[in-house]
Amino acid sequence: MSETGPGQVRRSSTRLDSYVDRYAARTQGMTASEIRALFSVASRPEVVSLAGGMPNISGLPLDVVGKAVSTLVRDHGAVAMQYGSGQGDPRLREQICDVMRLEGVEAHPDDVVVTVGSQQAVDLVTRIFCDPGDVVICEAPSYVGALGVFRAYEVDVVHAEMDRHGLVPDALRQAIAATRAAGKRIKFLYTIPNYHNPAGVSLSPERRAEVLEICREADILILEDNPYGLLGFGDEPHRALRADEAEGVIYLGSFSKTFAPGFRVGWALAPHAVREKLVLAQESATLCPPSFSQMVVSAYLESHDWQGQVKEFREMYRERRDALLEALEDMMPPTASWTVPDGGFYVWLTLPEGLDAKAMLPRAVTARVAYVPGTAFYADGFGARSMRLSYCYPTPERIREGVRRLVGVIEEELELHQTFGTAGRPGVGRGYESPNTDLT
Ligand SMILES: Cc1ncc(COP(=O)(O)O)c(C=O)c1O
Repeated sequence: MSETGPGQVRRSSTRLDSYVDRYAARTQGMTASEIRALFSVASRPEVVSLAGGMPNISGLPLDVVGKAVSTLVRDHGAVAMQYGSGQGDPRLREQICDVMRLEGVEAHPDDVVVTVGSQQAVDLVTRIFCDPGDVVICEAPSYVGALGVFRAYEVDVVHAEMDRHGLVPDALRQAIAATRAAGKRIKFLYTIPNYHNPAGVSLSPERRAEVLEICREADILILEDNPYGLLGFGDEPHRALRADEAEGVIYLGSFSKTFAPGFRVGWALAPHAVREKLVLAQESATLCPPSFSQMVVSAYLESHDWQGQVKEFREMYRERRDALLEALEDMMPPTASWTVPDGGFYVWLTLPEGLDAKAMLPRAVTARVAYVPGTAFYADGFGARSMRLSYCYPTPERIREGVRRLVGVIEEELELHQTFGTAGRPGVGRGYESPNTDLT
């Protein structure tokens, strides 16, 4: 529908969405992600999906969880099914502090705000800090769900390059200088230092100190998003940025990958003043995070060897990572390259020159393998030569089969490229030949 004059509404028969003229301007940035469009196809059983980042929770002790849920309802149902605190359950906030201690973070439960997954924490932080046109600096590439939030709040994303040691400090310095020279306000650096989604790399210890120093000097807040922090394949978790800087860092955590995403429990740890604003924003968004979910998570942490379970998850993911790396090593053409993750769910693969992951996707799906094209992880059209491969969900055998199918498609594309000069459609955006899509 569209307004034609005071009180008049004209129904447009030519538009699919007849409300199109009424939406707020900010909805123009809200488009279905490339991942969403893929899910319906990639979830068919005949397709090997290396696309989705769903945690593989089949190893969870469902009997233990079931017992915790029924005890909770029987003994504390009236509280668990009631509204709760806008900041989150006090007992769970204490337990969250114990969880963060594993990464060197010393925090007080008063400074923790429980959120509906860490996704909501990204939303709330953006809501309280960003006006339209403000800048958030993100790694290149960055988490597609955060880019969606930034778009929804009409934030300008400026990407800073990464390599296999994570965010490149000089690239961060340059991004800050160039943004400020253009007269724009930088509200924060959004970073995923551990087992990056989608890049599959971790920030080196030396660079952690340097990134903190750069942001301290430039007076830029850091939003440290760390849902995979306990899913490393080494002996010890990486030290959180927040462990060495309390005032300049907002830390986000989640139980989605260490327990189960269906409860939608995550959190933000913020400097005291910011915490106040976050609680107000949380109250206006949801009144309170769900009491029931929080109490189930709390009971699980209390009554189960959850760290033993996380160790099992890590071993399972490591086996799958090894299967993927081995298959890539065995089968990929020598001109492809990829990152080697030390934890988490993802490998970032850069195709041989001249190939376009997005253009190739329909042919890959026809060959019954799915991935996420690199362009999904950039706000500016980069990434066409790259793709994210997730190894978290399929079995090692299926992963190998998926790589076999993918390599078949890539080889056909290469042949086309050699015959006609371009493989399928030419690359999209400036990133087509960009070196910064190759993190290896
Ligand atoms: C980097 C990153 N941040 C945040 C999230 C959101 O996680 P959740 O809302 O389930 O806690 C994800 C999920 O995949 C992620 O990869």
